[in-house]
Amino acid sequence: AEQKATNVHWHDGEVSTEQRNALLKQKGATLWFTGLSGSGKSTVAVALEQALHQLGHLSYRLDGDNIRLGINKNLGFSAEDRTENIRRIGEISKLFVDTGVITLSSFVSPYRKDRDSVRQLHEEAGMVFIEVFVDVPLDVAEERDPKGLYKKARAGEIKNFTGIDDPYEAPVNAEIILNSHEMSLQQEVELLINLLRERGILP
Ligand code: PPS
Repeated sequence: AEQKATNVHWHDGEVSTEQRNALLKQKGATLWFTGLSGSGKSTVAVALEQALHQLGHLSYRLDGDNIRLGINKNLGFSAEDRTENIRRIGEISKLFVDTGVITLSSFVSPYRKDRDSVRQLHEEAGMVFIEVFVDVPLDVAEERDPKGLYKKARAGEIKNFTGIDDPYEAPVNAEIILNSHEMSLQQEVELLINLLRERGILP
């Protein structure tokens, strides 16, 4: 989005990101979970949050439905609104990373250019962005159909449903791919924790 306000400038405080990271004994980072509705994004984010908490680390989840009930309640599922949804969540994730939090953002985020923009936003600020592709075949997600939305989309009661009549553009440069139909939740969490250690997010 374009900068509308003029005469606005960023103000640095007297406590740095590095100092907050040191306080928390971790490094803030965004783990961005992308995948079809019903792919298992939220499930793995919830399990990871719990595992991190048990290890004594601060993380926080930003999740599709929750964000759409609050800050993004004025957005729907048109291509334009999805792009704005992801743009705002990208900025929120960046703020959380600046506080030192391991930020677990799970959104369908079906458009590659929107995810790449969030990546760029982080990387330009020297922040770690890890794209986690929760990859299951459409028929698996549709079979699960936890909210009955695929059924409605097939019946034409929901328009522009991702995977049915709106595209899902699979990541080409994801840091990690989780096939939630072939892995246990515990395996997925272990892989993510190992990755966080390798990347210096966890000591
Ligand atoms: S997006 O595309 O990233 O802006 O979507 P997101 O904010 O993650 O919201 C997706 C959840 O909203 C429900 N829902 C839909 N998804 C996709 N397409 C359409 N048209 C749609 N309408 C409602 C759906 O339950 C998604 O939740 P999850 O948790 O991913 O299943």
